[in-house]
Amino acid sequence: MKILVTGAYGQLGREMQLVEHNAEDSYIFTDKDTLDITDAAAVEQMVLSEGIDVVVNCAAYTNVELAEDEENIANVLNCVAVENLAVSMAKVGGVLIHVSTDYVFGGNVNNTPIAETESVNPTGAYGRTKLAGERAIAKSGCRAIVIRTAWLYSEFGKNFVKTLLEVTATQPKRKVVIDQVGTPTYALDLAEVIAHIINTRTFECGTYHYSNEGVCSWYDFAKEIASIAQHNQCDIRPCRSGEFPTKVIRPSYSVLDKGKIKKVFGVEVPYWRDSLVKCINNLKK
Ligand SMILES: NC(=O)c1ccc[n+]([C@@H]2O[C@H](COP(=O)([O-])OP(=O)(O)OC[C@H]3O[C@@H](n4cnc5c(N)ncnc54)[C@H](OP(=O)(O)O)[C@@H]3O)[C@@H](O)[C@H]2O)c1
Repeated sequence: MKILVTGAYGQLGREMQLVEHNAEDSYIFTDKDTLDITDAAAVEQMVLSEGIDVVVNCAAYTNVELAEDEENIANVLNCVAVENLAVSMAKVGGVLIHVSTDYVFGGNVNNTPIAETESVNPTGAYGRTKLAGERAIAKSGCRAIVIRTAWLYSEFGKNFVKTLLEVTATQPKRKVVIDQVGTPTYALDLAEVIAHIINTRTFECGTYHYSNEGVCSWYDFAKEIASIAQHNQCDIRPCRSGEFPTKVIRPSYSVLDKGKIKKVFGVEVPYWRDSLVKCINNLKK
């Protein structure tokens, strides 16, 4: 099979380049300089001329805060460009594997893991544009697997783990919010799930939730990062979100229910702390 990975130099895209692929498959890794997915003609040309069977879309507008000021720009990448991919894949009967977010939900007030069947209710621009992307895929009629994930981090790019490693190594104290609860996702684990789907040819279309296993607050996450890195000199204190007002209303509870993806694709989901240890070790290499 011929597989096109878009946004291949972002966090998830870089991990997609590292995971094990089926030797029979050939991969084309692109980013916006080699394939700008907002360009519908370029997308179609690539899909048709290369004979693409599967697209893994790792490209996105991911700056949640800035999206509040430039929703139109975020929408071009998170919705219009996704539609370009979906329409092209519908034309050739291929499969689009697309990544979405817990921000399509406003958070679960019942504090129970959120299933794929739960009603969507984005509270900000980023979530609205990602949801619009999901809807564009559905409208295109293309064969698609949409994986919603949350709290993504990796050894690449900018993310909470890398920021906290830096902060706890250089600063004496830090406050971190304790009233937002979810589950981190190591992008390498998500990339392995996507590779597993492709390698096993289990293209069971639909929407799925994936994060690592377990539950924590950002405060617990920060404490673990410092503890694993042995940055014990930094005093990490819990605080409420109200102490750090932001433009975005972030979900207070966004633990995703992984039952469906585990059952359909037979994947094991690693515990968040184990994956965090793995990422920090990989960062040291
Ligand atoms: N990060 C999170 O916490 C999080 C949480 C939940 C879900 N997600 C979702 O997970 C997926 C992967 O996120 P990520 O953190 O890996 O994203 P990322 O690191 O921000 O990577 C996105 C990539 O897309 C590229 N890109 C930008 N414009 C493009 C264009 N016009 N055409 C092609 N590529 C373009 C970016 O290039 P430049 O850097 O050069 O702009 C970047 O390499 C996204 O769908 C995201 O919405 C992320």
